Amino acid sequence: MRMVDIIAKKRDGQALTKEEIDFVIAGYTNDEVPDYQMSALSMALYFQGMTTEERVNLTMAMVESGDQIDLSDIEGIKVDKHSTGGVGDTTTLILAPLVAALDVPVAKMSGRGLGHTGGTIDKLESIEGFQVELDGETFNELVNKNKIAVVGQSGNLTPADKKLYSLRDVTATVNSIPLIASSIMSKKIASGADAIVLDVKTGSGAFMKDMDDAKELAEAMVRIGNGAGRNTIAVISDMNQPLGFAIGNALEVKEAIDTLRGNGPEDLHELCLTLGSQMVYLAGKADSIEDARAKLEDAISSGRAIEKFKTFIASQGGDASVVDEPNKLPTAAYKYEVKAKETGYISEIIADEIGIAASMLGAGRITKESEIDLAVGLVLQKKVGDKVQKGDTLVVIHSNQEAVDEVEVKIQESYSISTEIVEPKQLVYGVIDK
Ligand code: URA
Ligand code: CA
Repeated sequence: MRMVDIIAKKRDGQALTKEEIDFVIAGYTNDEVPDYQMSALSMALYFQGMTTEERVNLTMAMVESGDQIDLSDIEGIKVDKHSTGGVGDTTTLILAPLVAALDVPVAKMSGRGLGHTGGTIDKLESIEGFQVELDGETFNELVNKNKIAVVGQSGNLTPADKKLYSLRDVTATVNSIPLIASSIMSKKIASGADAIVLDVKTGSGAFMKDMDDAKELAEAMVRIGNGAGRNTIAVISDMNQPLGFAIGNALEVKEAIDTLRGNGPEDLHELCLTLGSQMVYLAGKADSIEDARAKLEDAISSGRAIEKFKTFIASQGGDASVVDEPNKLPTAAYKYEVKAKETGYISEIIADEIGIAASMLGAGRITKESEIDLAVGLVLQKKVGDKVQKGDTLVVIHSNQEAVDEVEVKIQESYSISTEIVEPKQLVYGVIDK
């Protein structure tokens, strides 16, 4: 087999066989296929697209390029959740204990964040003593015993995807739905999930700005997952404004605690129930989505969800008293209020810009090596559709720097106020299950 023939075949619009895809991915992983040939193939794939069969084969070739997590010692159907990313997305921190409270096993491998806030692992590290490194045996034991454990990424998962993603980044080939879908699904499948719930975000703060693209990506991922033997569904949800109120690591832990008690922001609470019902249903712990939702609501109102969060924290060495005393979480030295300059209704909050404002305070990493400040961030007081009077607080800045002028300007720029009534944003646009 020759790489040049495979490139020509795809350039001319033909589908590649499993053998050809395996040859490309194995060759690229062990440096036998050079970057220039992989670049040419990526561009051909970008223009010619891929059949569902090709996408499944590409995904599985990337899964097989490295280690795969074996969760077979854990009882039950392991359901993983993945979000395509947004601003202030605290759902994992809430969903993990919430569904575990219904005996859905949560064996979660999570990453550190790059961008506006940390990842789930960074957020958990804002809890004193919390250990994000566990050996495989301890991890399995904890999930069997408590139904929940979360560890940092380790091992050599999907090296082909890592290498290909970096190449796509510098060859203008990131923005291809088949390549994005295969990339995301390869990581989920290599992490050992039996079933997968995807939260595909759409809107100004999302990777997929446009609804049609989000739908196409969701469908592509659902088809790959099911084609690879993993029951997969996708929820399409709004990212035209940040999710919930808090953006920042310890601030989001506090928001997760509030939500697990039933006192969280409405949008965050609703999205967790939507995604959680799908997870519980796929795990076979409910007869229908409605039944799953009722059980989740009961787990919150009965206190079982928040108790599960305490058990989870304590079982990984963390100080579970933060749940009842959230002031024990890292706290910023200064608080500043950003005030509305006009009276009216909030018509827009540009999520990306709010994310950048949180990064400027030190809540997110600019590069993989940067240190993040777990205490800092933003807490929104007003969301789209809310009425405001001139002088009302829009956002509270939690900062460890005295000067926050630039951050304040960013926040003012990202909020728009209209004199006309604005309808609140729709949160969930649809569910894709085939
Ligand atoms: N996120 C991924 O993991 N892969 C892509 O290709 C794009 C976004
Ligand atoms: Ca949030």
